Amino acid sequence: MKKVICKSYEEMSALAAFTIALQIQSKPDSVIGFATGSTPVGTYKRLIEMEVDFSKVTAFNLDEYYPIKRDNPQSYCYFMKEKLFSHINIPVGNINIPDGECDEPVKECADYDAKLERLGGTDLQILGIGKNGHIAFVEPAENLPLATGLVDLTDDTIKANSRFFDKPGDVPRQAISMGLRGIFNSRHILLLISGQGKAEVAKKLFAGELSTNVPASLLNLHPNVTVITDGSTD
Ligand code: GLP
Repeated sequence: MKKVICKSYEEMSALAAFTIALQIQSKPDSVIGFATGSTPVGTYKRLIEMEVDFSKVTAFNLDEYYPIKRDNPQSYCYFMKEKLFSHINIPVGNINIPDGECDEPVKECADYDAKLERLGGTDLQILGIGKNGHIAFVEPAENLPLATGLVDLTDDTIKANSRFFDKPGDVPRQAISMGLRGIFNSRHILLLISGQGKAEVAKKLFAGELSTNVPASLLNLHPNVTVITDGSTD
C-alpha cells in the first residue's frame, strides 16, 4: 500500500485526477471504477478542467441507494451526472451504475457482476472511505460480501449520509453495492481520504491489521493500492 500525504484537499484532488488521466492516456479504453461521496468531487472537477478524453472509457460505479429514482438529486446516478458524466465526452452507453429503480435487485446485482467480469474488472478503482471503514457500501460485519448485492445500511452510515437529505427519515435503508470481488478485481485501487473526521479510520487502515469490522483494512491484501490523503488525517 503506497501512501501519499498531500498538503491540501486541492493537492489531493489534483494528484488523483492526474493519476486517472495518466491511466486513460496509457489505455484509452480503460475501465474506471467511480465512487461517490464528497471526497472525490474535487478530483472530478479537475478531470473536467483537464479535458481528458473519455470517448473510449467505460465507467463502472460502486453503488446506488435502493430504492431510489434516477432523477432524485440524492441518487448516485444524479450525483455522477452532475459532478462528472454530463461534463465529459463519455458515451452514455459506457456508463454503468446499479439501477436503483429496478424491480428485481437480485437479478440486477448478478447482471452487474457478470458485466464487470466480462470486461475483466477495472483498470483503476477510485474509492472513498466511510468513517466506520466501509468501502462502497460494504459495511462492517463478521462476514463481508464478495458479490454485488442488496445491503442494509448501518445506523452509522444512515446518520453520516443524512446530511445530504432533508431529514434522516428520507435516507434509504438499503443500497445495491459492489462486493469485495468487484472492488479487488481492479489492477490499481486509488483510495482518497479527506477530513479530520476520517483520522481514526485512516489510523486503523495504516496500522496494517485486518478486520472485517473495518472493511477498508482488507485493502492491505491488494497488491496495488495507492492511498492519497489531504494531510488533515495525520
Ligand atoms: C458513501 C459511499 C462511499 C463513500 C462514503 C464516504 O457511503 N457509498 O463510496 O466512500 O460515502 O463519503 P464522503 O466522501 O462524503 O465522506
